[in-house]
Amino acid sequence: MKLSRFRLLLLSCFLIIEQAPQTTRASKILAVYAFPGKSHYMMHTALIRELIANGHQVTMIAAFSLESQKLGSNYTEILIEPVYDFWHDVKLSFGAQHLFELTRMDNYDFLKMLQIIGLKTTEHALKQPKVQALIHAKETEGVFDLLLAEQFYQEAFLALAYKYRIPIVTTSTLGYENHMSQMMGLITPWSFVPHGFLPFTDRMSFFERLKNSFVSMFEDLHRLLIYFPQMDALTQQHFGNVLAEVPKVKDMEHQISVMLLNSHAPLTTARPTVDAMIPVGGMHIYPPKPLPADIKAFLDGATDGAIFFSLGSNVQSKDMPADMVQLFLDVFRSLKQRILWKFEDDMGALPPNVMIKKWMPQADILAHRNVKVFITHGGLFGTQEGVHYAVPLLGIPFYCDQHLNMNKAVLGGYAISLHFQSITKDILRDSLMQLIYNATFKENMKQVSAVFRDRAMDARKSAVYWIEYVIRHKGAPHMHLAGLDLNWFQFYLLDVILFVVATIIFTLLVLWLVVRLLLGSDRNYRKAKRH
Ligand SMILES: *[C@@H]1O[C@H](CO)[C@@H](O)[C@H](O)[C@H]1NC(C)=O
Ligand SMILES: *[C@@H]1O[C@H](CO)[C@@H](O)[C@H](O)[C@H]1NC(C)=O
Repeated sequence: MKLSRFRLLLLSCFLIIEQAPQTTRASKILAVYAFPGKSHYMMHTALIRELIANGHQVTMIAAFSLESQKLGSNYTEILIEPVYDFWHDVKLSFGAQHLFELTRMDNYDFLKMLQIIGLKTTEHALKQPKVQALIHAKETEGVFDLLLAEQFYQEAFLALAYKYRIPIVTTSTLGYENHMSQMMGLITPWSFVPHGFLPFTDRMSFFERLKNSFVSMFEDLHRLLIYFPQMDALTQQHFGNVLAEVPKVKDMEHQISVMLLNSHAPLTTARPTVDAMIPVGGMHIYPPKPLPADIKAFLDGATDGAIFFSLGSNVQSKDMPADMVQLFLDVFRSLKQRILWKFEDDMGALPPNVMIKKWMPQADILAHRNVKVFITHGGLFGTQEGVHYAVPLLGIPFYCDQHLNMNKAVLGGYAISLHFQSITKDILRDSLMQLIYNATFKENMKQVSAVFRDRAMDARKSAVYWIEYVIRHKGAPHMHLAGLDLNWFQFYLLDVILFVVATIIFTLLVLWLVVRLLLGSDRNYRKAKRH
C-alpha cells in the first residue's frame, strides 16, 4: 500500500518532468517594428504586451515608444528618433497634397509607394546608432532566442537573424498577401484569390481574373526585379562587414519559420495556405473598458441609437474638404440619432446631436449597445472591431486593402460602401437610414461576428503559442516546405513537363522513322520484284 503510493508520487514527478519541456522558459526576443505606421502598432503593441505578460524578455527596435504600456524591466526599447515622416515622401513622389487624393492613385503606383516607404523607413532605422550597435555587437551567442519582425517592406532586418543565429517569426498587419506565396512555398491561384488591393472577391468574372493576374504578376515581378535589388543593396551596406556572406532578401524570406497574420475567417476569403501561416486577426481587441464619463453619458442617452464616425489614424477627418465636412454636419443635424465623430481639430457650432473629439476609445465605443452604425475608412483593424461587436458598417474606403475589406463587407450584407468623391446628402442619409432601420444588415453582421469570434484558441494566446513553439523546436524545421529549396522550374514541374513532352515527341519521331523505313524498304522490295 505504502509502496504504491510512493510509486504514484514518483510517477507524478515523472509526469511533471515529462511535461516540463512544453512550457518554454523565459525567452529573449528581439523584435523589430521599425515601420512608423500608427495602425500597425495596434497589433505590435498587443503582441509585445502578451509576450511580456508571459514572462519573456523583449528588446524592441521601435518606431513608436511603448512607454505608456508600463511593460516593466523585461522590456528594452531601442527607439528610432525622430519618427520618420514617410507621408512626406509619398506626397513628394506622387504630387498629392493630402491623403484624400490617394483615392485616385492606381494599384501600380500604390505598390511602388509601399516599396518607397519601405526602403526609406528601413534605411532611417538602420542608420540609428543604437541599431548599429546591435548590428556590430561582438557577442552574439545566446543573446537572443528569436527574431520577431514585421512582414512589411523591412526585409533588411531579417539579416539580424543570421547575425544572432536565431529563427524568425514575422507578423503581417495586412493579413494574407498574394506575394507571400513565394516566401512560404505556396501556390496561390490568381483565378480565385483576389490581390489584397483589388476590390474583388473570390468569384471573379473573366476580366476581373485578367486584372487580378496582371496586378499579382506585376507585384511579383516588381518585387523580384526592382525592389529586392534595392533592399539587397541596403542589407549589403549595413551587414557587409558583419556577416561573412550577406544573404539575399529572397533567401532570407525562405527562413521565416512562422508568419502571424492579422486576419481571420470570414474576413479573409478561403484560400490555400500552409501550416506555418497562422491567422491571429483581432489580437488588438480586448474586453471593453469603461468609457470616459462624457462619452458614456452621450451614448447612454442616445435613445434612438448612435453613430460612430472615424476615418482611422492616417486619413484625418480634419483634412476633409470644408464642403464635405458641412455635408456630413447637415445630414447629421437631420437625424434623430446621436453622432460621435473622431475629428482632430476644433469645429464651430455643432448640431446638438453631434459630439467631436480628437481621440476616442474606438473598440470600447463600438461595444456600447446603443451604437447602430460605424462610419469607417474600412481599415482592417477597425473592420475587425466593427465585426467583433456586430455593428453594421458604412464604409468610405480610400486606399490599400480598404476597398477589398469594404467590398467583402458589402457582399456579406453587413455594410454599405460609398465612394468619397461621389457622396451627396441624399446618398449619405439614405445609407444611414438603411443601416439603422433595415434589420437585414444587423442580422448578417451578427452571423459574421459569430464566425469571427469562434476560435480554437484566443488570438493573442495563439500568437504567443506559435512564437514559443518556434523557440522550443529551434526554428521548427519540420514545418519548412522543401519546395522552397527547389528551383522555380522544378517547383512548377516545368522540368517534368518538358521531359514528358520531349519523351512523347521523341517516341512519335522514332515511330515515324520506323514506319517510313518499313514503307521505304517495302517500296524498294516491290520495286525490286517488278524488275
Ligand atoms: C521578468 O522575467 C522574469 C523571467 O525571465 C520573471 O521572473 C520576472 O518576474 C519578470 N519581471 C517582470 C518585472 O515582469
Ligand atoms: C433591406 O436591405 C436588403 C439588403 O440590402 C434589401 O434587399 C431590402 O430591400 C431592404 N429592405 C427595405 C425595406 O429597404
